[in-house]
Amino acid sequence: MEGENHEAAKAQNHLVGVIGAGQMGHGIAHVMLRAGHRVTLLDVSQDFVAAGAKRIAKGLARDVEKERLTEEQRLQAIARLKTTTIFADLATADFVIEAVTEKFEVKAEVFRLLEPHCPPETIFASNTSSISITRLAAATARPAKFVGLHFFNPVPVMKLVEVVPGLQTAPETVEKAIALATSAGKTPVRVNDFPGFVSNRVLMPMINEAVFCLMEGVADAAGVDNVMKLGMNHPMGPLELADLIGLDVCLDIMTVLYESLRDPKYRPCPLLEKMVAANWLGCKTGRGFHQYPKS
Ligand code: 3HC
Repeated sequence: MEGENHEAAKAQNHLVGVIGAGQMGHGIAHVMLRAGHRVTLLDVSQDFVAAGAKRIAKGLARDVEKERLTEEQRLQAIARLKTTTIFADLATADFVIEAVTEKFEVKAEVFRLLEPHCPPETIFASNTSSISITRLAAATARPAKFVGLHFFNPVPVMKLVEVVPGLQTAPETVEKAIALATSAGKTPVRVNDFPGFVSNRVLMPMINEAVFCLMEGVADAAGVDNVMKLGMNHPMGPLELADLIGLDVCLDIMTVLYESLRDPKYRPCPLLEKMVAANWLGCKTGRGFHQYPKS
């Protein structure tokens, strides 16, 4: 599959800007490079982009080990990656995918800073997990060229991309977004713009309920996870998965669901709030519902 996508993407040879070099952003950059696109990765500091580039390099080396790429393709992919902290360096991008903190104000500010540098035809995409694409699009001067492209963690592994048109998104923008996701080896599923789309509307209440089970002493963390792994055949338990996603991200998404759907069934579990307050955010801080040795 990678070979075919690689060839298809080379023909298109897109320049993809990725804003945010964290967990999602570096993964998106990785799959775009692996597919043959050029990528410029932007974050607020040189340290952040360097850390993202290091993780991408590690991922591409793993692709060679697993024979998803040849050594020559890996070297070419590395050569197609540029890193920056300057928005002007995204001026020639065909697509810019934003993957920053899950807060409307932060994302809107990123697009406000980006917009003057890009011509009107550049497509802006957000990897938001739950924020309204319609509202984000309206915060830009190109709402018809704005779309949601929601990737899943770990990005190099998960096949799905939710493609989310806002109310103003032009059909041509959706088609181009679907083509980009497909070129990166993903299976796009078109989903309408509602809080949490389909994925997090279903997943996050399950995770939240698992945290309630833990808080109320129904079972300990291992017990909750084992029930869902062994009884429902989930590859990871919900608490383990929350640790992988990041408890801060889970809380942000539950808060968006609760506030935008105005239904108490989405109330974030107090234990989830408390853990975020303690900065016990899961894998990334070494402690969440489970403990993770620093590596
Ligand atoms: N980061 C990057 N790659 C990872 C990884 C991670 N954290 N964890 C595992 N992988 C890679 C491994 O390196 C391996 O790749 P390889 O082909 O190069 O060897 C591949 O995944 C399979 O890993 P393993 O064989 O070691 O382990 P598993 O078979 O147990 O699979 C898993 C690991 C793919 C993470 C699996 O447990 C799984 O599918 N878990 C559920 C993940 C999930 O639900 N993701 C969606 C989260 S929701 C989301 O992202 C949306 C957002 O808006 C919140």
